[in-house]
Amino acid sequence: MTRRIFIAGNWKMNLTLSASLELAEGLKQKTANVTAADVAVCPPSVYLQPVAAALRNSNIKVGAQNVYFEKNGAFTGEISAEMLKDIGVTYVILGHSERRNILGESSETVNRKTHAALAAGLIPIVCVGELLKEREAGVTEEVVRRQFDGSFSGISAEDMTKCVIAYEPVWAIGTGKVATPEQAEEVHAAIRKMIAAKYGKDAAEAVRIQYGGSVNDKNAEEILAKPNVDGALVGGASLKVDSFLGIINGAK
Ligand code: PGA
Repeated sequence: MTRRIFIAGNWKMNLTLSASLELAEGLKQKTANVTAADVAVCPPSVYLQPVAAALRNSNIKVGAQNVYFEKNGAFTGEISAEMLKDIGVTYVILGHSERRNILGESSETVNRKTHAALAAGLIPIVCVGELLKEREAGVTEEVVRRQFDGSFSGISAEDMTKCVIAYEPVWAIGTGKVATPEQAEEVHAAIRKMIAAKYGKDAAEAVRIQYGGSVNDKNAEEILAKPNVDGALVGGASLKVDSFLGIINGAK
């Protein structure tokens, strides 16, 4: 099975409405002939709808950066998976390290969100990754396994194949310290083994595993060339048309 490269831009809490639309328009035009990769952008929730409208009839899908796990009700400030689906959102990033570490999100919460996203027909991009001190202590795989087991608890093999996993070593996010292609490949291969052990070989071969953490137009091609790296989740370098395009063009 060949897995299509998937490049997603995580805009985080950046840009204005006009800057979002300008970026979306620029990407729409310049990706019109891209065939080697699936592409998505994940704007702040308030810009999801206008960006989705701007990207209609383009090669770019839209993702949210978070979702709440309940369907509706008295949950002030939250947004449901159905609401995201309703406005044309395709993907949702779950368990990003900034949500885990700054906002206190646990794997149990990520798991409830994963179930809710799948039930609404959204594709979850579930993030896992170790802190610097965990890598230095030699427990990277253990940490990633705990996040993997927790985040996908109770998910069927069929649903698992719909999910995307993003391996994002926390020490590489926004720091300019990218993992070497070998470091990324090692953890990606370990994650694929975890999927195989729990869901079987077919599911493991189907699931796309993105790398994230200081990916840019200079280092993308080498990382994406690794056999178990199926794409990138890009923060900073997704905020400019040319740098994001350079990453997309790194997909061969
Ligand atoms: P970065 O962020 O590319 O700015 O390191 C990646 C991410 O957090 O998804």
